[in-house]
Amino acid sequence: MTALILVAAGSGQRLAAGVPKALVEVAGDSLIGHCIAAARQVDRIHELVVVAPAAEVDRIAADVQGVTVVAGGATRDASVRAGLLALPEAVEMVLIHDAARPFTPVEVYDRVITALDTGADAVIPALPVADTIKRVADGIVVATVDRCDLVAVQTPQGFRVATLRCAHEQQTDAVTDDAMLVETMGVPVHVVAGSHDAFKITTAFDLAVARAMREV
Ligand code: CTP
Ligand code: MG
Repeated sequence: MTALILVAAGSGQRLAAGVPKALVEVAGDSLIGHCIAAARQVDRIHELVVVAPAAEVDRIAADVQGVTVVAGGATRDASVRAGLLALPEAVEMVLIHDAARPFTPVEVYDRVITALDTGADAVIPALPVADTIKRVADGIVVATVDRCDLVAVQTPQGFRVATLRCAHEQQTDAVTDDAMLVETMGVPVHVVAGSHDAFKITTAFDLAVARAMREV
């Protein structure tokens, strides 16, 4: 059995003051709503858990049927842990997805699940890096990093539940994704192709792009 945990408890301060980012609307639905609609098209996702801002749990639970809604924490990894605690016993594999990536195509979910089904413990979708990347200190370039072996990482990230639970028992300071925790345990993290449509909405520019994509 495979579950999806949708982390949606961030504040998104840079986007819309006072409105949690996951509730911002694009083309008539919230970012959470778009993510749930996509997840429901994925046959191999059997269970959905939404990790919401504490003040929004009841409203979201009333709005969406067949979904478990729990309150998130102060950091993304605390929100993931809240989602893990809400998983039914029978769940063996879990996908962690950012509500901030509402237009992730079904094919990306499928690629992640297929890799788990073929034995991977941990799977991330990623895209090659298009820009040249430099390391900078005090406004001065320290090094140019060879971009050939760099990728930009997206979600959903897939894991065997036991592996991710174990990872979240470790030190979780300054963690920006779930795979980071698993990597430090020495577990191989497999990479599948992401999608440009799975871009993360962080800034007003990103939101404008999302609206331009859907509100035509
Ligand atoms: N998230 C969460 N709980 C937190 C922080 C983040 O569930 N305490 C979720 C967000 O809702 C988002 C995903 O993790 O779907 C990735 O976080 P990010 O894009 O950084 O979202 P925000 O923290 O909402 O936005 P920002 O950092 O721009 O303020
Ligand atoms: Mg954040």
